[in-house]
Amino acid sequence: MIYADYNGSAPLLPVVREYLKKRIDTEIYANPNAIHSIGQKVFQGIEKCREVIAEVVECYPDQLYFNSGSSEGVSHILFSVLEYAPKNKNIVITSPIEHAVIPKALKFYQERRGFKLEMVDIDDNGVVLMNSLEKLFQKHGETIALVTIMAVNNETGVIQPYEQIAKLCQQYRVEFFCDTTQLIGKGDFSFRSSGVDYAVCSGHKVGALTGTGFVMAKEPTKLKSHVFGSTQEKGLRGGTQHYIGVETLAIALSDFQTHKSKLKNLSEARLKFEAKMKKTFPEVVVVGDKVPRLAGTSLMSYPGIHGQAVQIELESHDIFVTTSAACSDNQPETSAVLKAMAINDDVGRGVIRISLSYSHGDKDYLQLEDALTSIYTKLKKIKSF
Ligand SMILES: Cc1ncc(COP(=O)(O)O)c(C=O)c1O
Repeated sequence: MIYADYNGSAPLLPVVREYLKKRIDTEIYANPNAIHSIGQKVFQGIEKCREVIAEVVECYPDQLYFNSGSSEGVSHILFSVLEYAPKNKNIVITSPIEHAVIPKALKFYQERRGFKLEMVDIDDNGVVLMNSLEKLFQKHGETIALVTIMAVNNETGVIQPYEQIAKLCQQYRVEFFCDTTQLIGKGDFSFRSSGVDYAVCSGHKVGALTGTGFVMAKEPTKLKSHVFGSTQEKGLRGGTQHYIGVETLAIALSDFQTHKSKLKNLSEARLKFEAKMKKTFPEVVVVGDKVPRLAGTSLMSYPGIHGQAVQIELESHDIFVTTSAACSDNQPETSAVLKAMAINDDVGRGVIRISLSYSHGDKDYLQLEDALTSIYTKLKKIKSF
């Protein structure tokens, strides 16, 4: 079996599974906010995890706040910045390739507080164009409240020039929120050296328990309380902490840190696989293949063959992929991200997303190549559009 939907949701890492099996049998269950000794032990565990994770993502522990994942993280950051922005700052710059949570949240603040959205241009590979961003800075200057652009696109795996964007934001003194959901745990990321003001991580994308994650803020005092409760997470995120989830986050990200050298292997195996598929089927398109992408992501299309048909065929080979983003997997249409990249429907409706992790390599890609070769050979005889 090959589970190839790591950009959708990663299975629990083996080390996390082993940890949990033992963890369930311990006596250490308590309210981390109580002053009895078991509560304090649990609390200290959370703080230890904060330190471990901060070291992996290179931030200070007090810049990191635990939550339930990236949808919450995005909501928290946009609330903190946009709900409290001064009236004269009414422009938000974003990109047309963001995960659905960003445009949805921005629409809310557009309607509620009258923000105007400006879209940065992207090129055919789905990369944000720096000169377009610079023009928007020159046009709107002091009135910009926030720039929100992702680090890596979830569908294509294309890496954005987020460090350059951060530099430009600093130059124009504008805050930059970078949705790092698909980068952390899949590629190198240092919060400190990236220069971004806010970032997020989601546990279920990195092999930790689902329902876990965190936000990072360069200046934590700028974060505002958005889930009311008691003093948890310094009063910024109420609710009794998901401490077992937090423990799995620390284990998963430490595992990534230990094994991230394997990404090179993964990337080489992926490139070999893509090249072989294109050689066998010259019609095959790999979206974003001219620019840097995540080591284990291929968005592949055989124009005219429906992505869903390929997906179902792959399942009979015990291989599990999606057709683009998990949330639009059920829509046999070109996704909004691909439309923004000016990808035509012939290619857009044919895509399958293969997303693997640092635990995979040549063997998996050879199996994928065998399966896809026989599927494309069969389905091209009965092209569906
Ligand atoms: C880029 C990006 N941002 C945000 C999210 C939302 O993450 P979560 O499922 O943790 O809420 C996802 C999930 O697919 C994503 O890929």
